[in-house]
Amino acid sequence: MKTLIAYGTRYGATATTSEEISRVLQEQGHDVSVVDLKKGKVKNISDYDLVIIGSGMRMFRWVGEAEKFIKKFQKELRQKKTAIFVSSGAQALHKFDGATEEMDTAWTKYLVEKAEKYSLQPSMMAIFGGVWDYNKMGFPFKQTMIPFQEKLREAGIQESEPGVYDTRDWDEIRNWARALAEQSI
Ligand SMILES: Cc1cc2nc3c(=O)[nH]c(=O)nc-3n(C[C@H](O)[C@H](O)[C@H](O)COP(=O)(O)O)c2cc1C
Repeated sequence: MKTLIAYGTRYGATATTSEEISRVLQEQGHDVSVVDLKKGKVKNISDYDLVIIGSGMRMFRWVGEAEKFIKKFQKELRQKKTAIFVSSGAQALHKFDGATEEMDTAWTKYLVEKAEKYSLQPSMMAIFGGVWDYNKMGFPFKQTMIPFQEKLREAGIQESEPGVYDTRDWDEIRNWARALAEQSI
Protein backbone atom coordinates (compact mmCIF):
# COMPACT_ATOMS: atom_id res chain seq x y z
CA MET A 1 0.00 0.00 0.00
CA LYS A 2 1.53 3.29 -1.10
CA THR A 3 0.61 6.09 1.26
CA LEU A 4 1.12 9.85 1.15
CA ILE A 5 0.97 12.05 4.23
CA ALA A 6 0.75 15.67 3.08
CA TYR A 7 0.64 18.25 5.84
CA GLY A 8 0.78 21.94 6.67
CA THR A 9 2.24 23.25 9.91
CA ARG A 10 3.00 26.60 11.52
CA TYR A 11 4.46 25.59 14.88
CA GLY A 12 5.74 22.07 14.08
CA ALA A 13 3.25 19.76 15.81
CA THR A 14 1.67 18.46 12.62
CA ALA A 15 5.16 17.58 11.31
CA THR A 16 6.08 15.32 14.22
CA THR A 17 2.55 13.88 14.42
CA SER A 18 2.81 13.03 10.70
CA GLU A 19 6.19 11.37 11.26
CA GLU A 20 4.72 9.21 14.01
CA ILE A 21 1.74 8.21 11.85
CA SER A 22 4.23 7.35 9.11
CA ARG A 23 6.31 5.22 11.50
CA VAL A 24 3.24 3.22 12.60
CA LEU A 25 2.00 2.74 9.03
CA GLN A 26 5.44 1.55 7.94
CA GLU A 27 5.38 -1.00 10.75
CA GLN A 28 2.12 -2.21 9.22
CA GLY A 29 3.75 -2.59 5.80
CA HIS A 30 2.86 0.72 4.14
CA ASP A 31 5.30 2.43 1.84
CA VAL A 32 4.96 6.02 3.12
CA SER A 33 6.01 9.41 1.75
CA VAL A 34 5.68 12.40 4.07
CA VAL A 35 5.55 15.89 2.56
CA ASP A 36 5.62 19.23 4.35
CA LEU A 37 3.53 21.26 1.90
CA LYS A 38 5.27 24.53 2.79
CA LYS A 39 8.62 23.06 1.74
CA GLY A 40 7.87 20.49 -0.93
CA LYS A 41 5.48 20.28 -3.85
CA VAL A 42 3.35 17.28 -4.70
CA LYS A 43 2.97 17.12 -8.45
CA ASN A 44 1.04 13.93 -8.73
CA ILE A 45 -0.93 11.66 -6.41
CA SER A 46 -1.86 8.94 -8.87
CA ASP A 47 0.65 6.44 -7.40
CA TYR A 48 -0.88 6.56 -3.93
CA ASP A 49 -3.55 4.21 -2.59
CA LEU A 50 -4.08 6.17 0.61
CA VAL A 51 -3.69 9.93 1.10
CA ILE A 52 -3.64 11.44 4.59
CA ILE A 53 -3.92 15.21 4.89
CA GLY A 54 -2.99 16.99 8.10
CA SER A 55 -3.12 20.62 9.18
CA GLY A 56 -2.40 22.70 12.25
CA MET A 57 -5.14 25.09 13.37
CA ARG A 58 -4.69 28.78 14.03
CA MET A 59 -7.58 31.14 14.69
CA PHE A 60 -9.96 28.50 13.33
CA ARG A 61 -8.07 28.22 10.06
CA TRP A 62 -6.20 25.44 8.33
CA VAL A 63 -2.71 26.06 6.97
CA GLY A 64 -3.25 27.53 3.50
CA GLU A 65 -0.98 25.04 1.73
CA ALA A 66 -2.87 22.05 3.17
CA GLU A 67 -6.20 23.39 1.99
CA LYS A 68 -4.71 24.25 -1.43
CA PHE A 69 -3.52 20.66 -1.70
CA ILE A 70 -7.07 19.37 -1.20
CA LYS A 71 -8.44 21.94 -3.62
CA LYS A 72 -5.90 21.05 -6.31
CA PHE A 73 -6.35 17.27 -6.09
CA GLN A 74 -10.01 17.16 -5.04
CA LYS A 75 -11.19 15.18 -8.06
CA GLU A 76 -8.60 12.45 -7.59
CA LEU A 77 -8.97 12.48 -3.82
CA ARG A 78 -12.67 11.69 -4.20
CA GLN A 79 -11.71 8.43 -5.92
CA LYS A 80 -9.11 7.44 -3.32
CA LYS A 81 -9.00 6.26 0.23
CA THR A 82 -8.36 9.37 2.34
CA ALA A 83 -7.99 10.41 5.96
CA ILE A 84 -7.73 13.87 7.50
CA PHE A 85 -6.56 15.17 10.85
CA VAL A 86 -5.86 18.48 12.53
CA SER A 87 -3.54 19.49 15.36
CA SER A 88 -5.61 21.59 17.66
CA GLY A 89 -5.73 23.34 20.98
CA ALA A 90 -9.39 22.49 21.42
CA GLN A 91 -8.55 18.89 22.11
CA ALA A 92 -6.41 19.40 25.21
CA LEU A 93 -8.34 22.26 26.75
CA HIS A 94 -11.75 20.75 26.37
CA LYS A 95 -10.73 17.24 27.29
CA PHE A 96 -9.92 18.62 30.72
CA ASP A 97 -12.69 21.15 31.18
CA GLY A 98 -15.29 18.73 29.78
CA ALA A 99 -16.63 21.22 27.21
CA THR A 100 -17.86 18.60 24.81
CA GLU A 101 -19.91 21.13 22.86
CA GLU A 102 -16.71 22.97 21.89
CA MET A 103 -15.17 19.68 20.79
CA ASP A 104 -18.25 18.88 18.72
CA THR A 105 -18.03 22.32 17.11
CA ALA A 106 -14.33 21.83 16.39
CA TRP A 107 -15.06 18.42 14.83
CA THR A 108 -17.73 19.96 12.60
CA LYS A 109 -15.85 23.13 11.65
CA TYR A 110 -12.32 21.76 11.28
CA LEU A 111 -13.07 18.37 9.73
CA VAL A 112 -16.63 17.67 8.61
CA GLU A 113 -17.13 21.00 6.83
CA LYS A 114 -13.70 20.77 5.19
CA ALA A 115 -14.45 17.30 3.83
CA GLU A 116 -17.88 18.43 2.64
CA LYS A 117 -16.47 21.53 0.96
CA TYR A 118 -14.42 19.33 -1.39
CA SER A 119 -16.84 16.36 -1.43
CA LEU A 120 -14.32 14.04 0.21
CA GLN A 121 -15.40 11.02 2.17
CA PRO A 122 -12.46 10.34 4.48
CA SER A 123 -12.46 6.88 5.98
CA MET A 124 -11.07 8.35 9.20
CA MET A 125 -10.72 11.81 10.73
CA ALA A 126 -9.11 13.03 13.94
CA ILE A 127 -8.50 16.03 16.14
CA PHE A 128 -5.16 15.53 17.83
CA GLY A 129 -3.48 17.77 20.38
CA GLY A 130 -0.86 20.26 19.40
CA VAL A 131 2.04 22.31 20.65
CA TRP A 132 1.70 25.73 22.22
CA ASP A 133 5.10 27.31 21.91
CA TYR A 134 4.99 30.73 23.52
CA ASN A 135 8.55 31.43 22.30
CA LYS A 136 7.56 31.08 18.64
CA MET A 137 4.31 33.07 18.69
CA GLY A 138 4.64 36.41 17.04
CA PHE A 139 2.74 39.54 17.91
CA PRO A 140 -0.29 39.82 18.03
CA PHE A 141 -1.00 36.09 18.44
CA LYS A 142 0.96 35.88 21.68
CA GLN A 143 -1.25 38.51 23.32
CA THR A 144 -4.35 36.53 22.39
CA MET A 145 -2.87 33.29 23.67
CA ILE A 146 -1.61 34.50 27.09
CA PRO A 147 -4.90 33.66 28.87
CA PHE A 148 -4.66 30.09 27.56
CA GLN A 149 -1.33 29.57 29.34
CA GLU A 150 -3.17 29.54 32.67
CA LYS A 151 -5.76 27.12 31.24
CA LEU A 152 -3.03 24.77 30.04
CA ARG A 153 -1.48 24.81 33.50
CA GLU A 154 -4.88 24.20 35.11
CA ALA A 155 -5.36 21.27 32.74
CA GLY A 156 -2.18 19.81 34.26
CA ILE A 157 -0.10 20.13 31.10
CA GLN A 158 3.55 20.48 32.04
CA GLU A 159 5.99 22.64 30.10
CA SER A 160 8.38 20.39 28.16
CA GLU A 161 10.75 23.38 28.13
CA PRO A 162 10.11 26.96 29.25
CA GLY A 163 7.09 28.30 27.37
CA VAL A 164 6.38 25.07 25.47
CA TYR A 165 3.30 22.92 26.13
CA ASP A 166 2.84 19.74 24.15
CA THR A 167 -0.75 18.54 24.50
CA ARG A 168 -0.53 15.47 22.30
CA ASP A 169 -1.55 12.00 23.37
CA TRP A 170 0.88 9.80 21.46
CA ASP A 171 -1.02 6.60 22.20
CA GLU A 172 -4.14 8.13 20.69
CA ILE A 173 -2.16 9.08 17.56
CA ARG A 174 -0.60 5.61 17.27
CA ASN A 175 -3.93 3.84 17.80
CA TRP A 176 -5.54 5.99 15.12
CA ALA A 177 -2.75 5.13 12.68
CA ARG A 178 -3.05 1.42 13.49
CA ALA A 179 -6.83 1.50 12.97
CA LEU A 180 -6.30 3.26 9.66
CA ALA A 181 -3.79 0.61 8.60
CA GLU A 182 -6.26 -2.14 9.52
CA GLN A 183 -8.98 -0.48 7.46
CA SER A 184 -6.67 -0.10 4.49
CA ILE A 185 -5.76 -3.75 4.03
C1 LIG B 1 -2.02 31.93 17.75
C2 LIG B 1 -2.63 30.59 17.91
C3 LIG B 1 -3.95 30.39 17.54
C4 LIG B 1 -4.54 29.13 17.69
N1 LIG B 1 -5.83 28.95 17.29
C5 LIG B 1 -6.40 27.73 17.41
C6 LIG B 1 -7.74 27.50 16.97
O1 LIG B 1 -8.43 28.38 16.46
N2 LIG B 1 -8.25 26.27 17.14
C7 LIG B 1 -7.55 25.25 17.69
O2 LIG B 1 -8.07 24.17 17.83
N3 LIG B 1 -6.27 25.43 18.09
C8 LIG B 1 -5.67 26.65 17.96
N4 LIG B 1 -4.38 26.83 18.37
C9 LIG B 1 -3.60 25.69 18.87
C10 LIG B 1 -2.86 25.07 17.69
O3 LIG B 1 -3.76 24.32 16.97
C11 LIG B 1 -1.66 24.22 18.12
O4 LIG B 1 -0.68 25.14 18.48
C12 LIG B 1 -1.16 23.30 17.02
O5 LIG B 1 0.06 22.73 17.46
C13 LIG B 1 -0.98 23.97 15.66
O6 LIG B 1 -0.47 23.07 14.72
P1 LIG B 1 1.02 23.21 14.15
O7 LIG B 1 1.94 23.12 15.37
O8 LIG B 1 1.21 22.07 13.25
O9 LIG B 1 1.12 24.52 13.49
C14 LIG B 1 -3.79 28.07 18.24
C15 LIG B 1 -2.45 28.29 18.60
C16 LIG B 1 -1.87 29.51 18.44
C17 LIG B 1 -0.45 29.72 18.83
